[in-house]
Amino acid sequence: MVIARLIIQADFPKISIDARIYGGFAEHLGRHIYTGMIEPAHPLADAQGFRTDVIELFRGLYMPIVRYPGGNFVSGYDWEDGVGPLAERPKRLDLAWGVTETNLFGTNAFVDWCRKANTEPMLAVNLGTRGIDSARALTEYCNHPSGTALSDLRREHGYQTPHAIKTWCLGNEVDGHWQMGAKPAHDYGLLANEASKCMKGVDPSIETILCGSSGRAMPTFGTWEWEALQGCYENVDYVSLHTYYDDHGGDLASFFASPDLMGDFIQETIAVCDAVKASKKSKHVMMLSFDEWNVWFPENNLIDRSPVWPELSTRKSDVYDMADALVVGGMLLTLLANAGRVRIACIAQIVNVLAPILTVPSGPAWCQTIYWPFQLTSLYGRGVLMDTVLDCPYFDASNREHIGFMQSVTTFDAVKHTMNVFVINRDPSGQVGQITVDVRGMQLTGDVEHVMLRHDNLNAENTIDAPNNVFPLRKSFRMDVTQRLELTVAGYSWNLYRFSVA
Ligand code: AHR
Repeated sequence: MVIARLIIQADFPKISIDARIYGGFAEHLGRHIYTGMIEPAHPLADAQGFRTDVIELFRGLYMPIVRYPGGNFVSGYDWEDGVGPLAERPKRLDLAWGVTETNLFGTNAFVDWCRKANTEPMLAVNLGTRGIDSARALTEYCNHPSGTALSDLRREHGYQTPHAIKTWCLGNEVDGHWQMGAKPAHDYGLLANEASKCMKGVDPSIETILCGSSGRAMPTFGTWEWEALQGCYENVDYVSLHTYYDDHGGDLASFFASPDLMGDFIQETIAVCDAVKASKKSKHVMMLSFDEWNVWFPENNLIDRSPVWPELSTRKSDVYDMADALVVGGMLLTLLANAGRVRIACIAQIVNVLAPILTVPSGPAWCQTIYWPFQLTSLYGRGVLMDTVLDCPYFDASNREHIGFMQSVTTFDAVKHTMNVFVINRDPSGQVGQITVDVRGMQLTGDVEHVMLRHDNLNAENTIDAPNNVFPLRKSFRMDVTQRLELTVAGYSWNLYRFSVA
């Protein structure tokens, strides 16, 4: 049995958590948009054709922001195709994913969807096949009130009030050879600088995100950030990070190392950003936007290159199991642990593609296993990050050494007067663990709620026939001793202990 000790020190300065770390990502990819977000013929579609069952499940994720329209898709996207009268929308080849894009869903529809779903839109501009001019024009179309050709065009399209999009991505994965319009770091840095300058010229209240390298394993990682930032440091607000982990063919120890690898990636990116800051003697602190992250199985990584160019993608959805839920839960704790610098993060994606929500065309929508750690962390992992020390034995995996058998993060919600302790038991052998929680500088009332996600079978999934197979259990109890607690943590379990604070 693993014995761990968690010290929570409430007296020390705390980091405020930006709720945008619980963001999502919606791309024109697979059945995300078509039959995921919009399906006019579905019995539960609203007047705009949006699936209300999906919106309802989405609301349960408490995602404050959603990135759109890509991803690789944005690097070949002409935003003008997706606005204005439906009958005039052109069909185009989407070179990113090998389908025909009908453009029945575009920027305005996305903003409407966000308003109905209680979230904020975050847009990416095409710096692949297009550039500064279309980025500037889209910003003006969306955010300028009226009196110019582009803002009046938006009004003509039915949107009198500006969309007020606050957060903008400057392209996508520009260092990737697969990206339309991939560029060297130096060229991209200068382009991003000019695009950001023009976009902020249109609306000075916006924030922009520079594309970091498209992954830590890229040969460009590190030098890419350094070189690109040289050209634009003062004019951008965030650097992006993207990462996907797979299950290493069943090597559980390596799979369970994923949250730690994500943490390494964050620390290395911060180091490069701060080195650029020092080299420029700048006062500007670069924040991070981890705007693509998830578990992704390589076998579903294929792009449909058939000559058919279908309008509705035949791409398979990734189906997640209990092990994936533990890793996704762990990645969320890594984001939380780095909340001082990671201010935005977007799980990739929301529905049908690498997603917490699955749908069947004309049929139901349901929650995958990963929905639950996301929902519970997004709902309760807000407020401030507490200072903690976790003293816990470690294991080594083939891809990383020194991985704690348990992972833990604590947050404090001053509004609800609750201390939320997240604990994941990721002992690869599945043994039960014991954790002593030592709370200093905060008085607890003794009332505790325990929410746990676990299943006897690590490969358990939620399916159309058994949508609640993996589902969180809640129980409440009272503690006798209020400051030092002994908790038993089930093998392969995700846990949240909600302590009421006096
Ligand atoms: O999220 C799926 C794809 O992964 C995105 O389009 C791309 O940015 C990344 O490579």
